[in-house]
Amino acid sequence: MFRRACRLLPLLAAAVILSVFGFASLSSANNQGQERDGANNAQTCDKSCHDRRFSAWDEQWLMMSIEGDLFEIQGGKLAQEKGRLQAVKDLGATLVRDHSKSLQDATKLAEKLGIAVPHEPSPSQQWELRVVAQFSGREFDRWYSDLEVQDHKQDITEAQDEVDKGCNDEVRRDAKDEIPTLREHLKLAQAALDSAR
Ligand SMILES: [Fe+2]
Ligand SMILES: [Fe+2]
Repeated sequence: MFRRACRLLPLLAAAVILSVFGFASLSSANNQGQERDGANNAQTCDKSCHDRRFSAWDEQWLMMSIEGDLFEIQGGKLAQEKGRLQAVKDLGATLVRDHSKSLQDATKLAEKLGIAVPHEPSPSQQWELRVVAQFSGREFDRWYSDLEVQDHKQDITEAQDEVDKGCNDEVRRDAKDEIPTLREHLKLAQAALDSAR
């Protein structure tokens, strides 16, 4: 919850600035994100899966990962349209390519395990995309890259948590396989942010 709140702070500040253009509904999106994080933190797992094929933790991570892929794909398309720097456009293209692949793999695994497949990013992610889409030019480059830096830091921590605390081996392997790609994305996002400053 703390991590997500920290990530949202710069965007909240931006939203205050943008509020003259008629922004609303920040709190509901934010609350839903926090509730989800709270549910996550409350879970503990002894890796036995309690005679089930997967734990609540596995289920939560896989669904969050699919929502994350949908978020990255929508954001990446936006960056290709609105980015001014080539580094930002290239970051967007890489995120669309890699997260489309990871979406495919995670969806297949969720269907195999009987886990519900989300069809849109989480409410707070949708809100983040709406906020960042209001910027243009250099401002867009800076806010989008910053969002992706913070997002990927959080994604890496969550994937590592699944590797450490998950029960289902396939879900844990999916999380483990994601980490090098997420680290690469973090590097690209940081480089784009450095160029945009
Ligand atoms: Fe992400
Ligand atoms: Fe990524």
